Amino acid sequence: MADAVSADQPPVPQHIAIIMDGNGRWARKRGLPRLAGHRAGTENIRSIVSACVDYGVRYMTLYAFSTENWSRPSLEVQGLMQILGDFIDRETRALHEQGVHLRHLGRLEGLSDKLKQKVRYAVDMTRNNSRLTLAIAFNYGGRTDVVDAVRAIVAKGIPAEEIDEQTINDHISTHGMPDPDVLIRTSGEWRLSNFLIWQTAYTEYWFTPVFWPDFRPEHLKQAIDEYGRRERRFGGINGQS
Ligand code: IPE
Ligand code: IPE
Ligand code: MG
Repeated sequence: MADAVSADQPPVPQHIAIIMDGNGRWARKRGLPRLAGHRAGTENIRSIVSACVDYGVRYMTLYAFSTENWSRPSLEVQGLMQILGDFIDRETRALHEQGVHLRHLGRLEGLSDKLKQKVRYAVDMTRNNSRLTLAIAFNYGGRTDVVDAVRAIVAKGIPAEEIDEQTINDHISTHGMPDPDVLIRTSGEWRLSNFLIWQTAYTEYWFTPVFWPDFRPEHLKQAIDEYGRRERRFGGINGQS
């Protein structure tokens, strides 16, 4: 297993989640409009996905648009929708050829019919791939995710006494994926901003001041190396049972 501990090889995280933050400040620093930052940030995804494939990471989740991001000026929101559509048009085939399985986390409701169709197409085209699962959290909120899981459980009529943590895992958007081992947030912010609130209970956090469009495979390597040096305890005492 990728996460197995051996003396000479530090463990590689199975699942890396990234809050791709700082596009706006990256653009401002260059005197560019915020959308130029979002475009540069989206361009950056390709090399980070390839690096994950090379490292043998099996799951990657990228936070691209939160349920709270609707509160931004409508031109920025429209631009972000356009950029996601363009990303799907431009990158799906190459991702498919790399063996990437695309997933969408969040509500499709609220997106235009055209964008919904693009998302469904990309997910469908890549559904049998297994080298890397790339989940894009778009119109995603951790609390909404929990609410939707609860709704699904209630709708099935599962009795209260049969509900346990696994029931939630089975009905939440990331079902079938392991919890993130590492969560990276770029741009110097140290908060979760309603990202995978349920799934990150024991995740290792790694923060960098680098803005997302400047985040390179070397930074990813730093995070992976640091993860390899961390001691995860999950509430226990390592080396004793
Ligand atoms: C992250 O960059 C992308 C989204 C939230 C859509 P920001 O747009 O939040 O960039 P900053 O934080 O304003 O620099
Ligand atoms: C979180 O970043 C969402 C994404 C990166 C998509 P924000 O920039 O929206 O978060 P806050 O507002 O700084 O907490
Ligand atoms: Mg931000």
